[in-house]
Amino acid sequence: MSLQPRPIFGTQGDVTTKNGAQSWFYTDVVKDHFFHPRNFMHEDAVESDYNAIGKVGSPACGDELRVWMKVDPVTEKIIEFRWKTFGCGSAIASTSMASVIVTENGGMTLENARKLKPMDIMDRLGGLPARKFHCSVLCDKALRDAINDYYRRTQQFDKIIAEAARLIDPVAKVTDHDIEEAVLDGAQTLEAVQQKTKVGIGNPGCLPAVEELIRFYREKYFGT
Ligand code: FES
Repeated sequence: MSLQPRPIFGTQGDVTTKNGAQSWFYTDVVKDHFFHPRNFMHEDAVESDYNAIGKVGSPACGDELRVWMKVDPVTEKIIEFRWKTFGCGSAIASTSMASVIVTENGGMTLENARKLKPMDIMDRLGGLPARKFHCSVLCDKALRDAINDYYRRTQQFDKIIAEAARLIDPVAKVTDHDIEEAVLDGAQTLEAVQQKTKVGIGNPGCLPAVEELIRFYREKYFGT
């Protein structure tokens, strides 16, 4: 079974590997958002004008994303969403699209924005190359971080959802987040995840938990 998250529309590879064995396709929507990013944070913008900030880094590639939100304190709708990234073209296109989705039609409420999934962003982009899927997860995570930040600032602590890492293999020091990143990076099987993380090699007792996590993240991100 393939981990291709969504069909990629296009007839020609935009990027081809050196030996020509693989081509990656970027949709017109992806290109449009890459060349004309929406809601980019301006250089002269004032951070204190925003009442929620989110930040996330990607262990898969080392890139980073920051987002700034203006949330209406009465309706708790996102009325402005700005961002900046040290990330690739797919991260730029995904975050640009996410910024449109959460602010269109008067803005999403924080509770609805929290339900936004990387798949929803992918659908609006018309797909991304499988190896670039983790880039769309970056903005999803930064959005969640900003939502938590808003609830923290407004002292609605019961609404904060912490995403602390859980240690799955104390020998290899592998957490559930490491397994999540491996799946996002294309590892489809236990063997592939082990190759990337070394999970369970010195501690086979944790393997049932690892397999369960692989199933969970495949279902969450790829619907397989
Ligand atoms: S965000 Fe790092 S490769 Fe796309």
